[in-house]
Amino acid sequence: MNKKIIIAIDGHSSCGKSTVARQVAHALQYNYVDSGSMYRAVTLFALRNKLIINGLVDSNRLVEMLPLISISFKYNPEEQKSDTYLNGENVEKEIRGLEVSNNVSLVAVVKEVRQAMVKIQQEMGREKGIVMDGRDIGTVVYPQAELKIFMTTSPQIRAQRRYDELVGKGEAVSFDEILKNVEERDFIDQNREESPLRKASDAVVLDNGNMSRNEQLDWVLSKVNEILNDN
Ligand code: CDP
Repeated sequence: MNKKIIIAIDGHSSCGKSTVARQVAHALQYNYVDSGSMYRAVTLFALRNKLIINGLVDSNRLVEMLPLISISFKYNPEEQKSDTYLNGENVEKEIRGLEVSNNVSLVAVVKEVRQAMVKIQQEMGREKGIVMDGRDIGTVVYPQAELKIFMTTSPQIRAQRRYDELVGKGEAVSFDEILKNVEERDFIDQNREESPLRKASDAVVLDNGNMSRNEQLDWVLSKVNEILNDN
């Protein structure tokens, strides 16, 4: 089958969007882009340059410095996934830590940051054959995407997954702290003025609370096949 489509996956934090997106991209031989990692890289840049103090972002300076930020991805064969690079430095591990997680939603509300990221993301999808996950992919980045998925599940299940992931990586974290972070990010993501997290009207909902990895992959692939067979 030669026809390639765009698959946009949006949803709450830690509901497994990136796992599904990666599985689907692998099965279809599509590119996968984790748009959240781009906001995380900008957040790391802001933290390193002391542009976030006590939960306040110096957005004027951050916007001024945006041209100094270059974000790219490079495939890591060992991990079988792409690592995120900030100005040529591999920051994959650092952007997943709690300090970035605790601040990323504050940076993601800055309009000019979003505009810059969306521009890069749209460029990446020009040739289709892409799976991108985030908060505004089906609503803002690719409103024309052939398949839009809105993923969600309860905050407790999501916090437990994030906890297991970080503990698995050897980080000392508390479950309560993670649950708080998940709930706070949901609130900020849904209530911000600029591109709030919303289900696109033509998105299909995937609640994977009781689904195995294989079940969720099959679910998405069946939607893809419906679209490809319709055309
Ligand atoms: O993995 P998780 O879903 O927890 O987070 P992420 O996808 O790495 O995204 C981190 C944060 O970036 C989110 O909490 C959002 O505040 C922001 N984000 C966004 O605003 N728009 C996107 N397209 C992707 C992420």
